[in-house]
Amino acid sequence: MPHLHHSCQEQAALFQPVIADIQDYSRGLFLLALEDLPEGFSFKAGQFVHIRVSSSDHPLLRRPISIQRVHQGRLELLIREVGVGTQLLHLSKPGDRLDVLGPLGTAFSPIQPGERVLMAGGGVGVAPLLAVIDQAAVGAAGDLCYGVSTASEIQELDPFQRKDCFFTFHFSTDDGSRGHQGFCTDVARMLAGKQVYNRIYTCGPWIMMQKVFEIACEAGLPVEASLEVQMGCGLGACLGCVYQSTDGEFIRSCIDGPVVDGYTVEWERA
Ligand SMILES: Cc1cc2nc3c(=O)[nH]c(=O)nc-3n(C[C@H](O)[C@H](O)[C@H](O)COP(=O)(O)OP(=O)(O)OC[C@H]3O[C@@H](n4cnc5c(N)ncnc54)[C@H](O)[C@@H]3O)c2cc1C
Ligand code: FES
Repeated sequence: MPHLHHSCQEQAALFQPVIADIQDYSRGLFLLALEDLPEGFSFKAGQFVHIRVSSSDHPLLRRPISIQRVHQGRLELLIREVGVGTQLLHLSKPGDRLDVLGPLGTAFSPIQPGERVLMAGGGVGVAPLLAVIDQAAVGAAGDLCYGVSTASEIQELDPFQRKDCFFTFHFSTDDGSRGHQGFCTDVARMLAGKQVYNRIYTCGPWIMMQKVFEIACEAGLPVEASLEVQMGCGLGACLGCVYQSTDGEFIRSCIDGPVVDGYTVEWERA
């Protein structure tokens, strides 16, 4: 089966949280913090929320955004402004309310004590991987290859520096302003040749995840990838997010994904 974990759509709620804070990084990247969540709101790393970005009919469709963290009643999302929907979110003000559906979709396999996982995230793709670290079992270990264009896009990572686990961040930037100058996949490839891992996780631009898949194949490791397929309803009804897996199955990315077994993805497609 192409999906790793059954999605938890039945746990999804429709709610209207209030914007508590918007923290700007650079190049249209920002951290959106939402409060006034439904009681007991929780999620599994890799799941997303589907956000209505306008009270009018334009844009009509909700925008899917991975959940980075839920902590002390605050839901955090790392967002890049790329078009009208994300621009409207960026222009929101603390105190505004949003219309949110979630959590939706499948999750990454939790990292168990004694396991070590190699992760590669590019841009906003680091968000669900930071969630993986946040939710890993005590004693879990891993390496997160954190790739961005420039150092000012790297967030405050203190909340993810866990003392009860063994995770290391490896930064790479296009301009060399922090860490390795080049792709985070260069670092991931180097680590895969040196360390023993149980699995590889990835989220980010397609070409980056394709390279991570190649690394997994070379190392003979399972790989879980969070795919950014454009979505409609988010609930499995509209079929707007369907793609065909390598074994010919039609996958609804919103409920059979976004996190899928990398070996079921046709990476060569356009
Ligand atoms: C499961 C999932 C999780 C996501 N998590 C995040 C996240 O944590 N942070 C974040 O910033 N973004 C995330 N995205 C991508 C985000 O949903 C899109 O960037 C957003 O919907 C674009 O809306 P827009 O109105 O701003 O841009 P539009 O005007 O709709 O599009 C602007 C440009 O972006 C392209 N685009 C739109 N949607 C996508 C997409 N899904 N993938 C690739 N290109 C796209 C369009 O083709 C167009 O070129 C996620 C997408 C999915 C499916
Ligand atoms: S977005 Fe409607 S079926 Fe997936």
